[in-house]
Amino acid sequence: MAKDLAGLAQIAGIQSGATESGLVLQAVGIQKRFGAVAALAGASLELRQGELMGLVGDNGAGKSTLIKMIAGSISPDEGSLLIRGEPVHFRRPADALASGIETVYQDLSLVEPLSGTANIFLGRELLRSGVASRLLRLIDKQRMRARVHDVLSDLGARIPSVDSPVFELSGGQRQALAIARAVLFGRNIVILDEPTAALGVRETAHVLEIIGRLKSSGCSVVMVSHNIEQLMGCADRVTVMRLGLTVGVRTIADTTPEEIISMITGVSGSPSE
Ligand SMILES: Nc1ncnc2c1ncn2[C@@H]1O[C@H](COP(=O)(O)OP(=O)(O)OP(=O)(O)O)[C@@H](O)[C@H]1O
Ligand SMILES: [Mg+2]
Repeated sequence: MAKDLAGLAQIAGIQSGATESGLVLQAVGIQKRFGAVAALAGASLELRQGELMGLVGDNGAGKSTLIKMIAGSISPDEGSLLIRGEPVHFRRPADALASGIETVYQDLSLVEPLSGTANIFLGRELLRSGVASRLLRLIDKQRMRARVHDVLSDLGARIPSVDSPVFELSGGQRQALAIARAVLFGRNIVILDEPTAALGVRETAHVLEIIGRLKSSGCSVVMVSHNIEQLMGCADRVTVMRLGLTVGVRTIADTTPEEIISMITGVSGSPSE
């Protein structure tokens, strides 16, 4: 297992690149309005090298808006974003990808009729070696298939065939493919928006195992979830948002589901009477 994870880190080209304080990502005082709606009214999020940060909040709290901002698909009205201590201004998703951030949205953005391998390498296909092959842009399917196979096996993901069209795969298998895509292209910050929301019990356990391996390989992960019990079992810390604001950060070992829920709702837990 340790060898697998070292291999995974090598495939991913993961380097820590963290600041002295160990922070790989900092979003500070983020504000974003959509017309009259203040979706974010001073949201903050920080992520340490190699940690799994849960991001929780009620419906409409601003979690997805914050994530879209970190993914470069919307820009903030106010606030700053720092990656490994350096201020960044993402104008488009490609800017976030270039900074090593991969975001796996709930719909996964996979192309249904294409195979798992084709989806992973979409737009970044490996070409066959040789001048003529390169000029003709001949795709090296064998090499792509082998690399996908290596990453999936290091992640412990079970997919019947990387050649099958994605519509034949289950929700958990699709999630595994999307995570493999992040690893293969060396993203060291991975953001997962409700990765297990649509999954059954067994698939949820399998995806959580894959996320655990991703983290052990050196990736830093933000995971949005409405499932507090699940985060208590897999996250290191949790950031709580309410009405567009970050209302607190807790270390999992020092908190309880009750405390998190009272932070989400803004209603303090009733003292035992
Ligand atoms: N493109 C948009 N245009 C207008 N309002 C928006 C837009 N995107 C988000 N909002 C609003 O911003 C607020 C925050 O939405 P967001 O999707 O970030 O919440 P969330 O915490 O992800 O909620 P959920 O748990 O339901 O996914 C909501 O009031 C939402 O209606
Ligand atoms: Mg959302």
